[in-house]
Amino acid sequence: MHMIKTSVFCGVSLDGFIARENGDIDWLTSGESAKEDYGYNDFIAAVDALVIGRNTYETVLGFGGWFYGEMPVYVLSSRELEKLPEGGKVERMSGEPKAILEELASRGHTHVYVDGGVTVQRFLRDDAIDRIIVSRLPILIGTGIPLFGETGRDIRLKLVSVKEFPSGMVQTEYAVKR
Ligand SMILES: NC(=O)c1ccc[n+]([C@@H]2O[C@H](COP(=O)([O-])OP(=O)(O)OC[C@H]3O[C@@H](n4cnc5c(N)ncnc54)[C@H](OP(=O)(O)O)[C@@H]3O)[C@@H](O)[C@H]2O)c1
Repeated sequence: MHMIKTSVFCGVSLDGFIARENGDIDWLTSGESAKEDYGYNDFIAAVDALVIGRNTYETVLGFGGWFYGEMPVYVLSSRELEKLPEGGKVERMSGEPKAILEELASRGHTHVYVDGGVTVQRFLRDDAIDRIIVSRLPILIGTGIPLFGETGRDIRLKLVSVKEFPSGMVQTEYAVKR
């Protein structure tokens, strides 16, 4: 097995959702916390590839433009991708999280950003996540797409840091204990 690190970095409502049922993240992209630098740019600078689920990919495409620049983005899906962004490096992959990571490591990637609800949950179940950075916004949205789900076992985490921001966002970073 090659060495490759995987991190999750996402914004959630206090009640644990990453998007509304219909995929909207308006509650995340508007309001006080949207104006803050909560470490996203530093985080993105530290990773060398992104693995996202098809639903997250389609949400990002829907914003117009392509904000991942030249960073290789691997979109997980069982189906071909219909749309590709101009100027983006996008490739579809599918399969078991560990097999995907093995492939990315063989391509020279060392630190991968894993994003999307279903995607993160599958990677966690497969013991394929090392770090979790969750920025919790002071809002309850009641219902939506959850960040966490079925794990199949208890997953113990070590708290690495806690940061609070003027908007009321609380960012916690955890390392998965092995
Ligand atoms: N708040 C935040 O920070 C944040 C972060 C990320 C995303 N989001 C939001 O969350 C929503 C998307 O989350 P989501 O839970 O719906 O899912 P997602 O993980 O983005 O996408 C799920 C889809 O990815 C594909 N997939 C996942 N793992 C796979 C694997 N190992 N092999 C093959 N295909 C795989 C499947 O697509 P197919 O059905 O095509 O096979 C699956 O239906 C969007 O609205 C997005 O905006 C929010």
